[in-house]
Amino acid sequence: MIVTGAASGMGAATARLFAEHGARLTLFDMNEAALKEVADATGGTPVAINLAEGPQVKAAVDAAAKAMGGLDGIVNAAGILRLKPIEDISFEEQDMLLRVNVGGVANMVRAALPHLQASGNATIVNFASYGAYRPGTGLSIYGATKAGVIAMAKSLINDIGPAVRINTICPGVIQTPMNQPRIDSGHLSKERMEGINQLGRYGQATEVAEAALFLTGPESSFMSNAVLEVSGGQLN
Ligand SMILES: NC(=O)c1ccc[n+]([C@@H]2O[C@H](COP(=O)([O-])OP(=O)(O)OC[C@H]3O[C@@H](n4cnc5c(N)ncnc54)[C@H](O)[C@@H]3O)[C@@H](O)[C@H]2O)c1
Repeated sequence: MIVTGAASGMGAATARLFAEHGARLTLFDMNEAALKEVADATGGTPVAINLAEGPQVKAAVDAAAKAMGGLDGIVNAAGILRLKPIEDISFEEQDMLLRVNVGGVANMVRAALPHLQASGNATIVNFASYGAYRPGTGLSIYGATKAGVIAMAKSLINDIGPAVRINTICPGVIQTPMNQPRIDSGHLSKERMEGINQLGRYGQATEVAEAALFLTGPESSFMSNAVLEVSGGQLN
């Protein structure tokens, strides 16, 4: 199993939960120091990598599959957020959002597919966002990249055959380092959260990791091409 974005937030929570369930893990992230901590805690093999760099991703996935004796799943949790109105997003930021959030997932899927198909019974879990299909202030380009993640899976099922299930998780507002600046600035205050989802609170990374575990395990054996919102009932 390869988990990307494993150094932080939901990727780290997924890695920890999968390790508790006995998974053999390779952990991809560009934050080498934080990744080492999660690797130490989970027994996973850390790989410091920029997922936007396709050839590097291909080499790293091939090496991970070889070291693990095959590959039966990937969880693509890595992503970046630039929360700004479109006129304030620079061309460089726009390119980076597309290269990481869409390109990073495509690079992983392309590299992993031959190994996943060879395993005969494999899963892909991608992280999109509620921002893919709901209006969010400052989320236009980010939301477009996450809609791209959903659209990618919708078309991929025509190509990948019956050996690989592919599903997408759309988290709502989750308390992770990605959101910490918004929490610190009061943009996502506890009071504001009451109006954001039905449950009136931030989601926890572990609550989303449980969905990734479900979509990877036999309990979801007839699920493919699903988009699962884990948002506490996002209201807008
Ligand atoms: N936190 C939320 O409220 C929320 C809501 C909806 C969707 N999401 C999505 O869920 C996923 C996980 O989010 P999170 O909140 O845990 O984020 P996070 O910022 O806590 O963790 C993201 C990880 O991805 C890694 N990463 C970023 N760019 C990379 C690159 N080019 N190469 C390798 N690693 C890279 C970072 O180093 C970091 O460790 C992301 O795809 C995010 O867009 C988050």
